[in-house]
Amino acid sequence: MRTAPELRTAAILTAAGSGARLGHALPKALVPVAGDPIVLHAARRLCASRFDDRPIESLVVSAPAGHVEGFVRLLDGLPVRVTVVAGGPSRQASVAAALAAVPDDVDVVLVHDAARPFAPPALIERVVAAVAAGHEAVVPGLAVTDTIKRVGPTDDGGPAEGWPVLGTVDRATLRAVQTPQGFTRALLARAHAAAADDAADESLAASDDAGLVERLGLPVWVVPGDDDAAKITTRRDLAIAELTVDPSFPTER
Ligand code: CTP
Ligand code: MG
Repeated sequence: MRTAPELRTAAILTAAGSGARLGHALPKALVPVAGDPIVLHAARRLCASRFDDRPIESLVVSAPAGHVEGFVRLLDGLPVRVTVVAGGPSRQASVAAALAAVPDDVDVVLVHDAARPFAPPALIERVVAAVAAGHEAVVPGLAVTDTIKRVGPTDDGGPAEGWPVLGTVDRATLRAVQTPQGFTRALLARAHAAAADDAADESLAASDDAGLVERLGLPVWVVPGDDDAAKITTRRDLAIAELTVDPSFPTER
């Protein structure tokens, strides 16, 4: 791998989900916040990030099937090379499809959820800096503020909503993990290849890429996350995003 000042970074922006829990007529990535689609906000912030004064080399976006051409038009004019691919049946499959389109000449790959459209450049830069410092898999994480209980099924197999408490988890050792997550390209490719058989089944597929590295038994490093990188899952999250969007962030492409 090249050393820090020459590292080439690409970003995968995975945006192929339907947004079932949001319940909007449009796929979630196309739902507007402050007048622009969610995926465009996320793409702008990836493009505005600088790593030793260099921007990302390339942005690969996974789109819902049937929306590839629309995404190409929507993202036209961004200041980096943009490739749009059709996503797959799980997040993991959509990231794998995008990874296959990442140019060969890249050392570091960021994987970002379009559903976290306001992840700020400072966070994105922090993740890449940790990879450049030698951590091959890096995730942003936030301390957990709720008290977390472990629960489990009763012997007679009652519904999950009614399971009893088994214990209280030590909150100090928990992190709520966000994206973008950063990897050396080689490790990300290896982790996805090892788990490829699970990608078609949403119940087996990993919900984040670091999880695939963990399955290999390899270390994942945590850097501080950011409240602005919150995920939009529900209508409530969308309303909060609308209220908390930074109106001064540049919106030209
Ligand atoms: N994603 C994807 N391909 C899929 C499923 C999800 O690229 N087959 C992406 C989403 O577009 C999103 C990110 O993975 O940017 C996180 O997923 P999530 O928040 O669960 O989004 P959706 O799957 O779209 O929402 P829902 O689960 O409510 O349908
Ligand atoms: Mg989902």
